[in-house]
Amino acid sequence: MNETGFIFDLDGVIVDTAKYHYLAWKNLANELGFEFTDEQNELFKGVSRKRCLEILLDIGQVKSTQKQFDTWMVEKNEDYLKYIEKMDETEILPDVPKILQYLKERNFPIALGSASKNAIPILEKVNLLSYFNTIVDGNNVTKAKPDPEVFLIAADQLGVEPENCIVFEDAQAGIQAANAANMISIGIGDAEILSEADYNFNDFTEIDLEFLEGLVNKNLK
Ligand code: BG6
Ligand code: MG
Repeated sequence: MNETGFIFDLDGVIVDTAKYHYLAWKNLANELGFEFTDEQNELFKGVSRKRCLEILLDIGQVKSTQKQFDTWMVEKNEDYLKYIEKMDETEILPDVPKILQYLKERNFPIALGSASKNAIPILEKVNLLSYFNTIVDGNNVTKAKPDPEVFLIAADQLGVEPENCIVFEDAQAGIQAANAANMISIGIGDAEILSEADYNFNDFTEIDLEFLEGLVNKNLK
């Protein structure tokens, strides 16, 4: 087994599903009579579905019974799944297959570490499931990011020490989770938002293979 493991978040790192989550939450907010902005959506990245709905209802100052809450959770997911159904390989973010292919050829163990309960169907749709040695998602965790649980389980399943894991994340909560797990965190997206990351890139096209080699050889941290 290789000493270094790689852990990828899903939404906003491998595929651009963050926009579909946003649209589905926005639709629900509008139905409940208030606006939900792109800026507010930042708080939803990496955060569990349940926690997102709690934040959304706080934003709209909407009170709900448990029954209503559960109905809205289902409604949001059904709406989200309508966007997902139409997904195919064209929605993989730039250079993700290239990086996955490179890591696979070098025999690095690869995990998914996502808060989503829809992770496996999405990876199947975009034909990337076979790259992953293990999938840890919203169905396997009890504590949501920024808690490190999801990444620690992934490291354990890969058989790699946490400090030898490299995490790709697009969410503030995800970077915090990776840091709390004592892993190397790489922010994919806005460097200002992801300022707590060890390294920042706008997307995978900016990550060259020498950089990854350097990380693996521990020249860079
Ligand atoms: C994360 C997204 O990956 O998954 C969050 O960044 C989302 O926005 C969470 O709420 C849960 O996803 P799902 O698919 O289980 O609703
Ligand atoms: Mg994400």
